[in-house]
Amino acid sequence: MRIGDEHVQHYREHGYAIVENFLTADELAAARADVDAFIPGWLDYAANPIGPKPAGWNEGPRSRRAMRFPFRGAHLNAITLHPELRRFASLMTGDEALFCEQSDLTYKCKGHYADVEQTMHLDYVNHTLAYPPDRPEYWQTAFLIYYTDVSVYEAPTAVCSWQHYRDEILWPAAYERTQRAQLYDNEVKVTVPAGSLLAYSMRTFHRGTAFMRDGARVGHFVSYAPQRPKWMGIVGWPEQGIYRSFSSWIEQATLEERELIGFPAPGDDYWTQETLAGVSARFPNMDMQPYSN
Ligand SMILES: [Fe+2]
Repeated sequence: MRIGDEHVQHYREHGYAIVENFLTADELAAARADVDAFIPGWLDYAANPIGPKPAGWNEGPRSRRAMRFPFRGAHLNAITLHPELRRFASLMTGDEALFCEQSDLTYKCKGHYADVEQTMHLDYVNHTLAYPPDRPEYWQTAFLIYYTDVSVYEAPTAVCSWQHYRDEILWPAAYERTQRAQLYDNEVKVTVPAGSLLAYSMRTFHRGTAFMRDGARVGHFVSYAPQRPKWMGIVGWPEQGIYRSFSSWIEQATLEERELIGFPAPGDDYWTQETLAGVSARFPNMDMQPYSN
């Protein structure tokens, strides 16, 4: 159990938790190998920012779609559906069935288009069509996993405890420093070694900060929502269906992993002779047996 009771307690009091060294050394190394294949040169540059920046460093895909799950390689996908992330998200929703609503890689370096001092904000504006209530059955949990070391110079995420706005209706969902300096004055910068995790909520003010010297930061956003409400989420997974990485992932995924992104469960009314034949034709390496009873 790597997210301990002390982290859960901190999250419940402050709206966020920082879990240092969340990933095992093996998980981190495997994830970094996948990152290196996906964005060659970034990890080397992060480790040694004296050298040249990675090729095309400021061109990168600006669309989330090109940077998201399912990734080529197994390890970023495994971290997306990591049992500990699911356990924590589940704890927060009071055991509602979960939906993984987001998994995208985030990378930037000094001078990059994403290298900005963000304003203090809440993420719910692009994670729900409505408003995030303080009720477990509607609880969305966001995670940011860092694949490079983050010191105060490498654009740490800054987060402000619930203690400073606990009982408000959370609108506006963003404040400039001049509008509400207290959120900035009380921010905590998440400076952590690679492999660490920040868990926060749709009701937690936070912001990205700018680089203070040459360097790079590679991280991974993963968010979970309860499965039932249809007004939550940030992407539609079917949109990824055109990529080969999608077919290869879904064919080998467990039943539970498939359901986490919305695939019909065994026993669902959806399964008929026609859909069994159709899905099997589309994903020839999928074991259809569990769906055919
Ligand atoms: Fe945010």
